[in-house]
Order: sequence, then C-alpha cells, then structure tokens
Amino acid sequence: MASTDYHNAALTVISDEVSPGALRWRSPSNIALVKYWGKHGDQLPQNASVSLTLDGAATDTTLSYLARRDSGSGVAVELYFAGELNPAFTDRTRKYLERLLPVYPFLRQLALRIDTDNTFPHSAGIASSASGMSALALCLVSLEERLFKPLPDRASFFRKASYLSRLGSGSACRSVYGGAAVWGKVGDLAGSSAEYAVPFADELHPVFQTYHDDILLVSKTEKSVSSRAGHGLMEQNPYAPARYEQADRRTREMLAILRRGELEKFMQVTESESLTLHALMMSSQPSYTLIEPNTLHIITTLRQFRKETGHPVCFTLDAGPNVHLLYPDGIATEVQRFVRDHLSPFCEDRAHLADRVGNGPEQLVPQETTGG
Ligand code: PMV
Repeated sequence: MASTDYHNAALTVISDEVSPGALRWRSPSNIALVKYWGKHGDQLPQNASVSLTLDGAATDTTLSYLARRDSGSGVAVELYFAGELNPAFTDRTRKYLERLLPVYPFLRQLALRIDTDNTFPHSAGIASSASGMSALALCLVSLEERLFKPLPDRASFFRKASYLSRLGSGSACRSVYGGAAVWGKVGDLAGSSAEYAVPFADELHPVFQTYHDDILLVSKTEKSVSSRAGHGLMEQNPYAPARYEQADRRTREMLAILRRGELEKFMQVTESESLTLHALMMSSQPSYTLIEPNTLHIITTLRQFRKETGHPVCFTLDAGPNVHLLYPDGIATEVQRFVRDHLSPFCEDRAHLADRVGNGPEQLVPQETTGG
C-alpha cells in the first residue's frame, strides 16, 4: 500500500449538517525491543522495529469539534494539556493536522479543541509522544467514522490510526495495538509495512503476555537532544548501513523469540539493542550521550543480581537515561523488592513506575469540558 492511498479529497462535510460533538481515547506508550533509529522520506523507518505495548503509561485525549463558520486555509485548533491551554503543543498539533489535510480535508471545516493528559507524572522524563500521538490519531479516525461511514472492519480502523500516528511520531504507530506490534517490512510477517504497524499479540508466547516493565526514573529532566535531531544525525553516521541491516535481522530474530518464549535470547537481544541505540548516539557527529552515571550503576547492579539469582530480568533503554526492567510475572515479588532496596537509590527522588504489557487503546465516553 502506498502512503497516498489514504488521500481522499471527497472527505468534506456540509457545515450545517455537523452537530457539535466529542470523542475520547486512552492510548498507551510502548517500549521498543528492537529500536527504530533513523528515518527517511515522510517519517518512514530505515529499519523494522518491534515493541511491547504498555498498560499504565498512557495518554487520555478528548477531541471536541463543531462546524467552523469561517473556513480558513489552515486548521483551527486549541490544545489543553492537563487542563491548561498549551501554546507550544497547540502549534505542534496544528502543524500535524495541517499535514493530514490531504487525508482529512474536513479538518479545516471544523473548530477543534483537544483536551489531553497523561496517566503518568508530567515531569517524569518519560516520552509521551507515542501515547499522545496515537490517542489523537484514534480520535481522528473515530471522527471520520462519525462524520462519514465506518471503515470496513476493525483491522482497517486500527491500520489507519497507526498510519496517522506514524506521521505524528514514528514510534507512536506501534501503540495502537495491545500486546506487541511490529513496524516495517518483515519478510515472513504477512501484511507488515513501513507505512503502519501491524499487531503481534496473537503470536506472543504466554510468558510475554504478562511481562512486566518497571521504569526506573534516573532523571526526570527533559532530554537534551530530541529524537528528531537524533534520527537526523543517523544520516551521516558511519555505522548506519550496518545498523539498519542488523536491526532488520534482529526484528526477525525477536519475532521468533517472542513466539517461542525464549527468555535467554530475549535478554541478550534486548540489552544489546538498547546499548546499540546509545552507541549510535555516541558515534554521531556531533557526538552526544543521554545515559547518565546512574544508568550504568543500575545496569551493573542488575547484571550482578541476575548472575547471583539466575532470575531472567533484563534492561532496555529509550532515548534517555531512564532504565526499563523487563521480566516475567513469576519473579515479580523478588524483582520489585530488589528494585526498592537496591536500584531506587539511583533514581531521582527514588522514583520508579511499575508497568506491564497492556491490552492497547480504549475508547472512552467524553466528559463535559470546562473553560476555553
Ligand atoms: O518516535 P520517535 O521519533 O520519538 O523515535 C523514538 C525512537 C525510540 O524510542 C528511541 C526507539 C523506538 O523504536 O521506540
């Protein structure tokens, strides 16, 4: 499927026939096992990636709309984050919605208000772009269905939501599915695409369906180099061609691991992926580091714990200093005690969030909004 297949000039409304309304979705974050790092064209990945979908770390978004009398050339939108009008997010969202006009020309015929909030602490230093962009994209596809007609089936609904999420933030396209999701063309995975993610939950071995992800907040400060800049630096990175080839191979490997429930191999590939991501940052020009001394303290202490106990717990890192601990449900009590006693001292204010693999986005009933 080509990216332009979703372009549809016919999706316009007759303003008098649109009654005001609202839609609401809660969508989770995801943690990549094989990382997407490097893009080309219109937010297309240089390599395939695979992630587990989280449960607790999510964004709750309400999209309210009414017909706009003075249809201008751009999109009329206001974004309220945690109850406050947020000019920076409003601006970013307007640009995103304007890029979607070839897909949804009706967006310029409406006045939109977005109320959004995260279920995790605001200044936790956790990326919210995956949950935020997917929640908004899901609201948009629901809006299309309400104003026009339902998409042929639920698979088409989520595929389109994934496609729209991707245009907002690449990794967000994997958040629209519960369990696990794969983004990028993978030879033996039917329907896989660089344009949107595909679900992988049905193929997950039971051990991974209840997997835990404890997020250790080494630093709650916003990262110094954005993902956008990081992706850009890959264009000149001398290791890029080998990296893209490695990531595609590892995605295929990881899918086999997730199907079979192979914990040893899972730990080996997952940890190497996260360190490779940070090695790519360090070998970029200019070079930069996002990990901090406490990130390494946690990794060393965790590896020692694993050696002593034999427990299959491993780490992964996102584009930041925080550490995600991944482990099966059966050892949750022991790992959580270890986190509390031995790892939380390396976290800012001893902060850590217990999360786990979740069921994916959920459509909610909108509440009355106030103010604005
Ligand atoms: O989705 P972006 O553009 O914020 O990129 C994020 C990429 C990583 O989180 C570092 C890895 C991934 O695949 O999620």
